[in-house]
Amino acid sequence: MKKYTLITGASSGLGEVYAEQYAQKHQNLILVARRLDRLELLKARLIAQYPIDVKVIRADLGSENTLNKFIEEISGYAIDRLVNNAGFGHSGAFAEQEMTNILQMNHVNIDALTLLCHALIPNLKRNKPSEIINVASVAAFVSGPYMAQYYATKAYVLSFSVALREELKKDGISVSVLCPGPTKTEFFDVANRKEPNPSVNLVMMDSKPVVQASVEGAQEAIIVPGLSNKIMVLLLKLVSRVHAAKIVARIQKVKTN
Ligand SMILES: NC(=O)c1ccc[n+]([C@@H]2O[C@H](COP(=O)([O-])OP(=O)(O)OC[C@H]3O[C@@H](n4cnc5c(N)ncnc54)[C@H](OP(=O)(O)O)[C@@H]3O)[C@@H](O)[C@H]2O)c1
Repeated sequence: MKKYTLITGASSGLGEVYAEQYAQKHQNLILVARRLDRLELLKARLIAQYPIDVKVIRADLGSENTLNKFIEEISGYAIDRLVNNAGFGHSGAFAEQEMTNILQMNHVNIDALTLLCHALIPNLKRNKPSEIINVASVAAFVSGPYMAQYYATKAYVLSFSVALREELKKDGISVSVLCPGPTKTEFFDVANRKEPNPSVNLVMMDSKPVVQASVEGAQEAIIVPGLSNKIMVLLLKLVSRVHAAKIVARIQKVKTN
């Protein structure tokens, strides 16, 4: 039976690059996102280049109904790698965020990732050795004023993934968590941050080396790609959480009253 790598959020950014890099390794793919046209284009490009099978599925991971239907739709496939990459952030003061946006972010960044891990563990066990890769962020290591909820969702992903790694080791399922820093994708447009702070631009990475660090380091627990991000995470361990939050507030160039 053919085995598949399932990638959420494959219509752009890091997810699209994950699809390219696993296609190069001749892995069959199931690609998921809302923008089906983008997924179809990616599929056409990949099957023209590599001898692989690619399925594309349109699903809004922020909707519980769609998510349940999607989980049912993939139940017939043998899956040996789950890449929980879909996610988004939103800039601005928490009090000014729309409630629908707040709930949607929790649904996509936390609930969908958690439910997909839970639903697919039996499938991954049957197809071991297998992998779960969850995409968090360097934001997971700090509290982030003016993107408070986004940083908190990524702290959840980091904590959850490291714990799950310990639980699933005995089942032949390796769990790793990718913690990128600022990366050139559509993320900043979606987050309503069209012009990232110049200091953020300085450390901005291309998406290819970020994904490469994850694909090549998938046996490691926590992957922080790039020297500047590694230094940032180290420095964050040296200052108190409260002080670090003040620094983040300044970097995000927003008034603190
Ligand atoms: N870029 C950065 O600076 C950065 C840094 C740290 C962590 N990350 C994380 O990296 C991951 C990938 O983001 P990216 O940077 O590649 O940004 P991106 O280019 O905006 O890609 C986000 C992907 O998530 C999908 N997605 C969003 N909401 C969805 C929903 N409701 N249902 C299904 N799919 C959904 C999008 O697809 P559709 O819109 O087609 O549905 C898209 O494919 C995210 O988890 C993000 O938090 C990014």
